[in-house]
Amino acid sequence: MNQSLDSNIRYSIENKVFIIEIHRPEKKNALLPGMYRALAEGLRIADNSEEANVILIKGADDCFTSGNDVNGFVGDGATSEDRPSTAFMHALNDTQKPIVAAVSGLAIGIGTTMLFHCDLIYASEDCFFQLPFTRLGLCPEAGSSYLLPRQIGYLRAAELMLLGDRFTAVKAKEYGIVNEVLPQSEYLQFAKSKAEELAALPSQSVQASKKLLKSGRDKIIPETITDELKEFSRLLKTPDARAIVQSFLDRKKAG
Ligand code: COA
Repeated sequence: MNQSLDSNIRYSIENKVFIIEIHRPEKKNALLPGMYRALAEGLRIADNSEEANVILIKGADDCFTSGNDVNGFVGDGATSEDRPSTAFMHALNDTQKPIVAAVSGLAIGIGTTMLFHCDLIYASEDCFFQLPFTRLGLCPEAGSSYLLPRQIGYLRAAELMLLGDRFTAVKAKEYGIVNEVLPQSEYLQFAKSKAEELAALPSQSVQASKKLLKSGRDKIIPETITDELKEFSRLLKTPDARAIVQSFLDRKKAG
């Protein structure tokens, strides 16, 4: 069993399921560069492991992830092409084994956009989701501008992406963003049982089927991630985005 590169990301294996856990509860599981690196590395390790057929991504019960650590939106490194978050987005797209997500608490920004790369998604009933990009003066990332409208239709995607409001797990299910909504006490066990059910099936057949289901996306997603990053980087330097990011950071200092 490989050790994670970052103490905020944990790896374990249970019944042929490689579990990647986001664990930075004191900051609502906000993602730092080292965490993205360990997430991408976990996907690669799991994809190459003979001990696991399926990957399960989870956070804490009260928080899947609040997305990118907002401190990372300040400074020059925030916009470089080779930032670890970009590598994580590509790793999600490259992963051949199925990815199951167990989502609870909140899933903001990349906490929601990473789900568009997952294959089975189970959420707790009190969970909320948010694609807050326009509220931050930014734009979609992680290939979401391509994936979301094709998954749920343009009008629904535009509603979630352009207005950037929080939405409930029930609405996420209605829109086709999650498979099932379960009571808080059951969501994780249910996600694990589905992951184990999948892991017990012939793995070559499951992987070939996933590849066929996602065919045609192989080239488009990397290009979309690059195009989105260009816009994102440009927007991050605008007075609107700078002011919004700064006000979040100042709120914290003042509090
Ligand atoms: N980046 C950096 N720090 C974050 C964070 C993020 N994305 N999300 C939460 N935190 C930190 C808070 O600054 C706070 O730190 P502190 O205890 O040192 O002050 C701690 O996590 C707890 O968060 P808090 O805001 O006190 O909890 P809350 O329950 O009132 O609100 C959120 C939770 C997630 C709704 C709120 O923190 C938030 O809006 N975060 C930003 C989300 C975001 O914009 N993400 C980027 C998406 S692109």
